[in-house]
Amino acid sequence: MKTDLRVLLTGGAGYIGSHTAVELMRAGSDVVIADNLVNSCMSVLPRIEELGGRPVTFYNIDVCDKDALDDLFTKEHIDAVIHFAGLKCVPESVKLPTLYYRNNLTSTINLLERMAEHDVRYIVFSSSATVYGESDTMPLREDMPTGACTNPYGMTKHMSEVIIRDTAKADERLGAVLLRYFNPIGADESGRIGEDPQGIPNNLLPYVAQFATGRREKLFVNGNDYPTRDGTCIRDYIHVTDLAIAHVKALDYIIGKSGCEVFNIGTGNGYSVLEVIDAFSKACGKELKYEFAPRRAGDIPTCYADPGKAERLLGWKAERDIKRMCEDTWRWQFNNPMGYEK
Ligand code: NAD
Ligand code: UFG
Repeated sequence: MKTDLRVLLTGGAGYIGSHTAVELMRAGSDVVIADNLVNSCMSVLPRIEELGGRPVTFYNIDVCDKDALDDLFTKEHIDAVIHFAGLKCVPESVKLPTLYYRNNLTSTINLLERMAEHDVRYIVFSSSATVYGESDTMPLREDMPTGACTNPYGMTKHMSEVIIRDTAKADERLGAVLLRYFNPIGADESGRIGEDPQGIPNNLLPYVAQFATGRREKLFVNGNDYPTRDGTCIRDYIHVTDLAIAHVKALDYIIGKSGCEVFNIGTGNGYSVLEVIDAFSKACGKELKYEFAPRRAGDIPTCYADPGKAERLLGWKAERDIKRMCEDTWRWQFNNPMGYEK
């Protein structure tokens, strides 16, 4: 394992970035975070330092800002970049497409250009299973078709993948890894950092966790007539700590290489909405009563990964099961019912 790297995490104050910062520091690297706090807050930073046992260098900047990023790369010696920064709310992206294309694509392009100027050669990018669109074939493999995305958010992930792949083709110094995350949930087992969505959560786990604390009044299961074993949608939930460790392994893999490689990051197991609610009920020790509601527009019945390529090439495999994912989510939510202090 290559240690003592100095890694720039764009969007590193966010949910996945904060957990990855901790795992990088635990593996012996230093972390620089660039985040404009559009979906996160400063109070995560001391907690990252506390868990990682090292200081974090923080830049409150917009990754789309050319001069600000130039200044960062001039001041800091950076060995590699992990690019988390981006807007990620699917319904918002349908309402405000240009905001999503501008933020998510300009940040990626600006980053690649500044990296080339400052001779920073390695990038790991946060992509998503959403790039596969509505595939009928499961599990999803990396060589299956991508790009038929059903919303602007998904298109920004697909387009960023294309931009990074083309840049790696054109610049033989560049080594890039695209990680297609499935459904990240859970929290660091300390319960000190976790997912803290603003407003009403869109995603299942943060909603269920807030319902369990009493912060949400009702729990709705969207759709019970899907062609699945219990009629509710099936997803490949992945513990955020396993996902964070996948980034450490991805850096270890790409440093010293060039080109662009893509990996699914999931467990390979699918759980239905009802199975997740049941696992969470056990984790929090109370029965969670739900109501069925209409299907959510754009939801596909089933989505899970073939994670075999990551195991073969990165030596990475998810280790934490659904029980652990729910227990760790609950510890974070119970200890921080209103999220981070803002
Ligand atoms: P998050 O919103 O918690 O973190 C993203 C961070 O990026 C936030 O701290 C935000 O303030 C910052 N940011 C956004 N635009 C920025 C900009 N222009 N300049 C600087 N900072 C900016 O989201 P997350 O769940 O941690 O996701 C991280 C990445 O992983 C995102 O790119 C997301 O699209 C991708 N992803 C997430 C999921 C998921 O379910 N959470 C699934 C697949 C892919
Ligand atoms: N769901 C409910 N009730 C809720 C919230 C969600 O029943 O209160 C259901 C959804 O309808 C879906 C399942 O729970 O069937 C999972 O929903 P999530 O929103 O947690 O996850 P998705 O798979 O829909 O979304 C994720 C990422 C997106 C990404 C998408 C496609 O969060 O960023 O996968 O890959 F675009």
